[in-house]
Amino acid sequence: MDARQLKIAAAQAALDHVEDGMRLGIGTGSTADEFVRLLAEKVADGFAIQGVPTSERTARLCVELGVPLFSLDDLPELDLTIDGADEVDGALGLIKGGGGALLREKIVAAASARMIVIADESKLVDTLGRFPLPIEVAPFGLTATRLAVERLAARLGLTGDIVQRPDKDGPYLTDGGHFILDASFGRIPDAEALAIGLAAIPGVVEHGLFLNMADAAIIASQSGARTLTAKT
Ligand code: 5RP
Repeated sequence: MDARQLKIAAAQAALDHVEDGMRLGIGTGSTADEFVRLLAEKVADGFAIQGVPTSERTARLCVELGVPLFSLDDLPELDLTIDGADEVDGALGLIKGGGGALLREKIVAAASARMIVIADESKLVDTLGRFPLPIEVAPFGLTATRLAVERLAARLGLTGDIVQRPDKDGPYLTDGGHFILDASFGRIPDAEALAIGLAAIPGVVEHGLFLNMADAAIIASQSGARTLTAKT
């Protein structure tokens, strides 16, 4: 299986958890896109779901493929969210936000009774941090916010570049109109402390550490898709 087939395998296995009539959070990224494509086939066959997208990108794909969409204000309590991840550790801690949708992804996941992550095995890590941690920040006071993040990192013994994410013609802007700082810490031994510290910085809108949020992760490898739960 190539990289795309692994994503499809994880997405296919996640579809088994989706029941007729569910209110469903729909994630963002290339793996989540595969899930949307498979979900759309079921919808075309008469399967009823009510989807809440985690990004404008996912919303566009859903509209294009006929997946029924609602806003989170229409459906503030969801049964299940299926989303990808940039990293997954053994306790189902995640780094997310490589696709820039971390704020909406976290809001939607928190509004869901369950969250299932879909990924290929390249995303599995012993300790979070190999993937640069996305930190969504307000444009106002960017330099002060970056300084506060750097000081927090130093207090926690974390080193590595913290760079503002670029786009084609300037800084990358999230769906909410914020910037993203990507922090290449390498290894984050105490992700809990970092999450608490980042949440306490006023200019930080949200960060890509999703701790104690995922209920299961479906990990696809050459030998098939296996499901990890927080207790395995
Ligand atoms: C977007 C995300 C994605 O879920 C994450 O980047 C994984 O994407 P992909 O499935 O393309 O590897 O967090 O903000």
